[in-house]
Amino acid sequence: MKIDILTLFPEMFQGIFEQSIIKRAIDMEKVNINLIDFRKYSKDIHHKVDDTPYGGGAGMVLTCQPIFDCVRDIKTEDSLVILLTPDGEVYKQEKAYELSKKKHLILICGHYEGFDERIRSICDLELSIGDYILTGGEIASMVLVDSITRLLPDVIATESHLNDSFNNHLLDYPTYTRPQVFEGMEVPEVLLSGNHKKIEEYRYQESLEKTRRVRPDLLDK
Ligand code: ADE
Repeated sequence: MKIDILTLFPEMFQGIFEQSIIKRAIDMEKVNINLIDFRKYSKDIHHKVDDTPYGGGAGMVLTCQPIFDCVRDIKTEDSLVILLTPDGEVYKQEKAYELSKKKHLILICGHYEGFDERIRSICDLELSIGDYILTGGEIASMVLVDSITRLLPDVIATESHLNDSFNNHLLDYPTYTRPQVFEGMEVPEVLLSGNHKKIEEYRYQESLEKTRRVRPDLLDK
């Protein structure tokens, strides 16, 4: 998979793709991530990428031209163009699975006070990572890259994500490792029993109970 990230702040991504599972996926050539500073596409003599809003109001607004030209330059028939914006569809694990099957993602990070509404016309999808306002789409696009990359074939064992929270609309069951007792807290007896059927039932009940308590909205699905 190829992921192009259009951002005015490529330095923000430093380090994030150089650790752990994402680094391994890059090294294994499962994913190719490019940071594109779309300022270099600006035709303005001062390389401006924003302007004041028509009708007045606070702040600066990203202009169409640099982003349109950049997307036209890199887009192919395999591309899916995604705008990161707080007023987009809320990003969920199901969408991560869907996007992990695409060949090329183009992620557009908005910034400043907003972007020209016409930028939406070149996007296939608008995503928000939650009901809060970030300073820009950079952190949101890191969230997408991380959650999608781990789902790519052979990046982590398929088994590891089959039990993820949100699969089957349930939160994950609790896990334990050695020691059997830590500061008086014991590992549930059933996990030591070796009875796989009982363990499976215990885990399902725990998932259900936790989902009911913490995220009852998931059960409506
Ligand atoms: N840009 C600013 N806030 C955002 C959010 N919650 N999700 C995606 N992009 C954003």
